[in-house]
Amino acid sequence: MGGSVYFLFMSPFVLTGLVTQTGGSHFQPVLSGPSRAYLRSRVQFHCEVPGWTSPLTYELRKDDGYLIATEVNTTVTFSLKVTEGSKGKYYCRLTTGGQSNTVHLQVVIPVQGASLSSEPDPPVIYEGERLVLRCLVSRGTHLSFMWYHNRQEVTSSPSELYRLSENTLTVDRAGEQHAGIYSCTAQNQMDVNTRYSSSRNLEVIVKKFISSPRLTFTVLCDGSDLLANISCGVERGSPPLTFLLLLDGVEIQEKQVSSLNAWFLQPVSVRGNMGAARCKAKTEIHQLMSDPVNLEVVPVGGVVQVMVTHLYDADGGVTAARLRCVPATGTFPAFSWSLNHTSLPAEGDSHALAQHGQILIITHITAVTAGFYRCAVRDSFNHNSSWVESSGIHIQKTAGFRVVPMEIMALVFCGFLSMVIAGGTFCLLWNSSGGIEKHHSNHEVHQTETIIDSGLPGADVCLETQTIEMKTLVVEFEV
Ligand SMILES: *[C@@H]1O[C@H](CO)[C@@H](O)[C@H](O)[C@H]1NC(C)=O
Ligand SMILES: *[C@@H]1O[C@H](CO)[C@@H](O)[C@H](O)[C@H]1NC(C)=O
Ligand SMILES: *[C@@H]1O[C@H](CO)[C@@H](O)[C@H](O)[C@H]1NC(C)=O
Ligand SMILES: *[C@@H]1O[C@H](CO)[C@@H](O)[C@H](O)[C@H]1NC(C)=O
Repeated sequence: MGGSVYFLFMSPFVLTGLVTQTGGSHFQPVLSGPSRAYLRSRVQFHCEVPGWTSPLTYELRKDDGYLIATEVNTTVTFSLKVTEGSKGKYYCRLTTGGQSNTVHLQVVIPVQGASLSSEPDPPVIYEGERLVLRCLVSRGTHLSFMWYHNRQEVTSSPSELYRLSENTLTVDRAGEQHAGIYSCTAQNQMDVNTRYSSSRNLEVIVKKFISSPRLTFTVLCDGSDLLANISCGVERGSPPLTFLLLLDGVEIQEKQVSSLNAWFLQPVSVRGNMGAARCKAKTEIHQLMSDPVNLEVVPVGGVVQVMVTHLYDADGGVTAARLRCVPATGTFPAFSWSLNHTSLPAEGDSHALAQHGQILIITHITAVTAGFYRCAVRDSFNHNSSWVESSGIHIQKTAGFRVVPMEIMALVFCGFLSMVIAGGTFCLLWNSSGGIEKHHSNHEVHQTETIIDSGLPGADVCLETQTIEMKTLVVEFEV
């Protein structure tokens, strides 16, 4: 029996606090004490024989029997100063025989000087790249680590944004959400008197990939010279960016900017095609090219046309109109509108301008706003150039009509179809021979899209009108 209990005592499961019999002695001392202690602190080990009330001589021993101290009392307390060498297995013994359980003491070095290191360093990465942050300490053992991203504690689950292990935080594929301020806190793993050390903040920058740049240009007058102000910009990306301007494939200007766009001035001449301009947006790791744009400045000229779209109220009466001004040529036109030869201000109670003045919307056609509308065009970059005016178009309010939805749908479809097939031929012929016509033979069908010009229309402008405006075909009835 005694032998098997002795065997149990030797097994590590019963080392903590079990009173055992050794060598037939009646006294089984019990040792209690901390399992961890800070370096240079004091620890106390208590030894006693439970239930024994007379003084005994206790020895505190360590590891393979090294005697540390001897005390005589019924229960004894050994107080030790913790040094680097204090680590080990402690037990107490009675001089009369009898040995206690073992207490394994670990020496903990208080944490100090936490800092963050990053890979790469500095922590500036592109989307999809890997980031590793390490929490380093200048001193300290038995540590655990806490991570903070934008002051929120980072936990590895449930999101799989980060991987945490030991003192390392890893991001395998960085995204925008990983950018921000990081810090870590290291702490000693102690039950009481836990010590902490926190790192400074480290800003992680996650750069976005750039999108394809877009090139546009405007023209401005510098004395008597014409300059193209060429803008190159990306929708997406992270500054700083480098933009290059290429003319016919040759790099001619370069700018580094802390924004998503840059502009370049380049001399141009009216009518001369200065070549194809492209721009390149560049970062440390990649570059993208814009589509080419011809640096062409065509002056305003030819016939000026006004295209009208009538807008109807619920009863089918014309109550509003949209007028679009189209010069035959001109890449940088400026527009001006007049009613009965009185120029219209940019804003009014019953009209509004859109697309840099190219479109005039008459919101209420009344006695005051009805009349002859004209638009005039000139080069926006040359204030000396003369205005080219369209002919006047008469805008007036018309009475409403009763809507027959089925037939309107049929007519709209017919109109659209015949436009597609016959290139703009009215489908009145089909309509007048069809059965639908029987009850409404006095209908007139109008395209609301009317082209009015002051002379011969420019072929390209007409074509554009038909293809674009056909989609807004509306049919008007008069009963
Ligand atoms: C024994 O311990 C008690 C308190 O634990 C103390 O008062 C007493 O002085 C000690 N006796 C000796 C001989 O050290
Ligand atoms: C406009 O006219 C003024 C004088 O009339 C002249 O000095 C200026 O160069 C002209 N500008 C352009 C762009 O032609
Ligand atoms: C050129 O255009 C940009 C906007 O695209 C503007 O910010 C800049 O001031 C313009 N430059 C000149 C000289 O007008
Ligand atoms: C413009 O002139 C037309 C025809 O002369 C006239 O009917 C209309 O009332 C005038 N409109 C304005 C606002 O003066």
